[in-house]
Amino acid sequence: MAARHFLTLNDMTTAELEGLLDHASRLRKEWRAGQTRDTLKNRVLAMVFEKSSTRTRVSFEAGMTQLGGTAMFLSPRDTQLGRGEPIEDSAIVISSMVDAVMIRTFAHETVERFASASSKPVINALTDEFHPCQLLADMQTFRELRGSIRGATVAWIGDGNNMCHSYINAAERFGFHLNVACPEGYEPDPELLRQHESRVTVTHSPEEAARGAQLLVTDVWASMGQEDEQKARESAFRDYQINPALMNVADKEALFMHCLPAHRGEEISAEMMEHSSSAVWHEAENRLHAQKALLEFLILNRLD
Ligand code: CP
Ligand code: NVA
Repeated sequence: MAARHFLTLNDMTTAELEGLLDHASRLRKEWRAGQTRDTLKNRVLAMVFEKSSTRTRVSFEAGMTQLGGTAMFLSPRDTQLGRGEPIEDSAIVISSMVDAVMIRTFAHETVERFASASSKPVINALTDEFHPCQLLADMQTFRELRGSIRGATVAWIGDGNNMCHSYINAAERFGFHLNVACPEGYEPDPELLRQHESRVTVTHSPEEAARGAQLLVTDVWASMGQEDEQKARESAFRDYQINPALMNVADKEALFMHCLPAHRGEEISAEMMEHSSSAVWHEAENRLHAQKALLEFLILNRLD
């Protein structure tokens, strides 16, 4: 049987995603109650990181250990991947020795090529185009704090980047409407917008996007790989900040989320992390639980 991969949210049905989130919430409760679990005993996850990470590395590595398995950190600096060994050759070899492979890289095509040659599940842990693992945690968090997101309005304030693209996929999968507020020239991918036009509205006004929304989300102005654009982006995004004034135009029960790392004084004002609407710490912890559920789903094909 061909391996199941998780490269975008489109790799799972809505029913599978909802089952996964329910399972993630159960794992969260069990783990917080001190219960142990060894469903992935003797299993190995290879983790390929071509970009920096705190949450993704810690959550996958801790998650595998907590499920009785192990995770192996591979950086291009000290593997043959960084010296030009073809992606497909690396995929055949690595996947012949481990149970799943997680990749954080630049071009989305890299994870697609790796997955096409891999005999084991491949997980996209962020590319320039998508960050689906973060959406599992975000959707789990909303569900735990507010219930179903179906029919809700979500406001994305900032760059039309990898996180924004995964929010567009989530709007389709989970049945909510996404308002994207971004500066001109920083819109999400036009083809993705075209595919999901009934679910997404693009505006250049943060207030318009946030009005009445049940969830406000943002991300850094300059993503990894865009360090040279930091100055230009600081001026383009100056008016695209989530702050208490913007929260005031949203629904009074609205949540604030951010995938982190956060830049206080840029995409959020300093007080937002601890604002009464903020779910950021809960959201960050849920990376652990959501990905443990994902690993069990992909490696064992079970959600119980
Ligand atoms: N949100 C997120 O993916 O964080 P890291 O870059 O620290 O992994
Ligand atoms: N858009 C950000 C997300 C970091 C988790 C980046 O790609 O750097």
